[in-house]
Amino acid sequence: MQIPSAPVDHSADRTAEKRELFITVNGKDQVLLVDPWVSLLDLLREHLDLTGTKKGCDHGQCGACTVLCDGKRILSCMTLAVMKNGSAITTIEGVGEPAALHPLQQAFIDHDAFQCGYCTPGQICSAIGLMNEGKARTREDVKELMSGNLCRCGANIGIIDAIMEVKTGGSNE
Ligand code: FES
Ligand code: FES
Repeated sequence: MQIPSAPVDHSADRTAEKRELFITVNGKDQVLLVDPWVSLLDLLREHLDLTGTKKGCDHGQCGACTVLCDGKRILSCMTLAVMKNGSAITTIEGVGEPAALHPLQQAFIDHDAFQCGYCTPGQICSAIGLMNEGKARTREDVKELMSGNLCRCGANIGIIDAIMEVKTGGSNE
């Protein structure tokens, strides 16, 4: 006869598994002790209190969690924080100041490119990443390359208008 075993307490093991993480977030160096399974999204929101980055699907399907890692756009919900040891992360909090908005932030306002605003931080970080990539030449390219960022409010036309305005220096062609 098999004797049922007592529930095992893994909390001690979990503490032992924590990893030291060196990461720069919005220009500020951070040294953190994190569990290896913590996503970059949860690290930003729950450990660093940077709640501008949004959790939508938490499965890589909506783009709400987009941030910049060394200038490239990534989905922070699909990224383990420990994978980004030594990297420089930029969130929407690091993109502009209320008194000195990033041109994309201003263009989003000018073009009514949001309603509830939930997708907006991800849209703006993604648009900065798209411009850094330098691949999008036409409006159709921008639409295609921004298709990973969903907007439930249907503000897509304004979003593409805003990006095109900044990309083309105002001609919006
Ligand atoms: S929350 Fe990351 S893609 Fe949706
Ligand atoms: S503005 Fe509401 S989801 Fe995009």
